[in-house]
Amino acid sequence: MKKESHHAGADVSRRSFIKASALTGLGLAVAPGLTFAKGSKEDKVRMAFIGVGGRGRSHLNNILKREDVLVTAICDIDQTAIDKSLNMIKKAGFKKPNTFTESETAYLDLLAQEDIDGVIIATPWVWHTKMAVDCMKAGKYAGVEVSAANTMAECWDLVNTYEETGVPTMILENVCYRRDVMAVLNMVRQDVFGELVHGRCGYRHDLRGVKFNPGVTFGEGANGEARWRTQHSLHRNADLYPTHGVGPIATMMNINRGNRFLSLTSHATKSRGLHDYILNNAAGGPDHPNAKIKWKIGDVVTSTINTANGETIIVTHDTNLPRPYSLNFEVQGVKGITDFDYDHRRIYIEGTSKPHSWENMNEGAEGSPSWLEKYDHPLWKKYGEYAAGSGHGGMDFFVDNAFVESVKRKVNPPLDAYDAAAWSAISPLSERSIAEGNTPQYFPDFTRGKWIWNKPVFALNDDF
Ligand SMILES: NC(=O)c1ccc[n+]([C@@H]2O[C@H](COP(=O)([O-])OP(=O)(O)OC[C@H]3O[C@@H](n4cnc5c(N)ncnc54)[C@H](O)[C@@H]3O)[C@@H](O)[C@H]2O)c1
Repeated sequence: MKKESHHAGADVSRRSFIKASALTGLGLAVAPGLTFAKGSKEDKVRMAFIGVGGRGRSHLNNILKREDVLVTAICDIDQTAIDKSLNMIKKAGFKKPNTFTESETAYLDLLAQEDIDGVIIATPWVWHTKMAVDCMKAGKYAGVEVSAANTMAECWDLVNTYEETGVPTMILENVCYRRDVMAVLNMVRQDVFGELVHGRCGYRHDLRGVKFNPGVTFGEGANGEARWRTQHSLHRNADLYPTHGVGPIATMMNINRGNRFLSLTSHATKSRGLHDYILNNAAGGPDHPNAKIKWKIGDVVTSTINTANGETIIVTHDTNLPRPYSLNFEVQGVKGITDFDYDHRRIYIEGTSKPHSWENMNEGAEGSPSWLEKYDHPLWKKYGEYAAGSGHGGMDFFVDNAFVESVKRKVNPPLDAYDAAAWSAISPLSERSIAEGNTPQYFPDFTRGKWIWNKPVFALNDDF
C-alpha cells in the first residue's frame, strides 16, 4: 500500500466534493440512498477487532449490522469477552472469525492474518499506540479508540508510522459525530458565529463507579475499566481524557488544516474525590486499605490552549466528583456564541437574538424550524434514522461508518494520525505543565508545516 494512493484518494474526493458543493451549496450535495449497505461480495471490507470488552463489542454490534463487511478475526486476552463476541457474530449470521487470546501480544498473530483490511482497537490506553503502529506496519488500517497516545513519543510514533507506511490510522472520536455537535459545526461553517475567537469543552463525567467496581476495588479482581483505568489516576496528574471535548472543537477550528494548537498551560486542583468516595462507600471506610492511597490526579484539571489563528480553548477534565455528565461545549465568535450539552442548548447571535438573552437551540421563531433542525448536518439528515439504533444516541454509527468507508474506498479517514497526535498530546503536555508549576508547554507541529496548506476534510463528504 503506497502512501501516494491515500493522498491521491483524499485529493480526488475533496476535489469532487468542492465541485459538487460549488453547484449545490455547502453541505447540500447529498445523494439519496444508503450507499454503505450496497457493497458487492467482492468489495466487502474485512474487519478485525483487538479488544472486545465493553467498547469493542459496541463497535462490533454496529459493524454486524452492515452488509458490506466480513468479520475475519477477533483478539482479546479475556476468553469471556471472546465468547460473548462469538455469540453476537453467530446471532448476526456471520461466519465464525479466527480468535486470538493466548497472550497480551497475541494480536501480532492476528495482524499476520492476510484477509484483514481494517482493525478496530478498543483495548486499555497503554496499548493503543503500539497496536495502531503494528497495524499500520502490517498494512492494515487502524481505527483506534480514544485517547490514541499517552506520551509525546507515542504521538510521534503514530505520525511517523503513518508517513513511513502510508497506511492510515483513524482516531475513533465519536463525539465529533454527535448530532448537536455536527449542527454547531455546520453553523460554524456557515458563518453563524462569524470568525471564531474562543472555545470551551471538557470531559466532566462522574466516573467513580467505573473506577471502582465492585465496591472500592480496582486493578486485579475488578470489573471492566476499573481493571486498568484507575491506575492512571494513581500515577498521573493530567487531563487523561481530552479528546471527547477537544475533538469537536478542533474540527470547528480547523486544527491541522489551516490552524494548529500552539501551546497550553494546565492547572490541577487538589485530589479529594476518589479518597472521599472510598471513605464513604459501604464496601470501603477509613480502615479499608484503599483509604491510605494518595491519588496523584487533581479532581479538576483545566488546560488553556492557544491556537495559531489566535483562538483560545479551555479544556476541563473532571471525573472524580459527584456531578451530572457534561462535555461543557462553548463556541464563541465575533457574531455570537453557543453554550450547549445534552441538558441545555442555547445560542446568542447579535442582531437575531433578543439583546443579552439566550435563545433555546431546540426552538425556532414562530412557525420556523429550530436552530438545530435548520442546521442539522447533511450526514445526519441522510443517515439519522438508520443511526438511531447504534450507541451513544447514534453518533457511534457515524464514526464506525467513516472508518469502514475509508477502508473500503482506500482513502484517508476524516480524522487521521495528525488529529490523533495533536489531540492526545494534551495528556502528556498537561501533565508536564502541572508538574512544572503551570508552565506553558508547546505542541510540536505534527504536520511538519502541512497544516498551512491542508484543507478541512471532516464531514465534507457525501457519505461519511
Ligand atoms: N468513545 C467512547 O465513547 C468510549 C466509550 C467507552 C470506552 N472507550 C475507550 O475504549 C477503550 C476500551 O474501553 P472499554 O470500556 O471497552 O474497556 P474494557 O476494560 O471493558 O475492555 C478492554 C478489553 O481489552 C482487553 N485487552 C486488554 N489488554 C489486551 C491485549 N493486550 N490484547 C487484547 N485484548 C486486550 C481486555 O481483556 C478487555 O476485554 C478505552 O480506550 C476507552 O477509553 C471509548
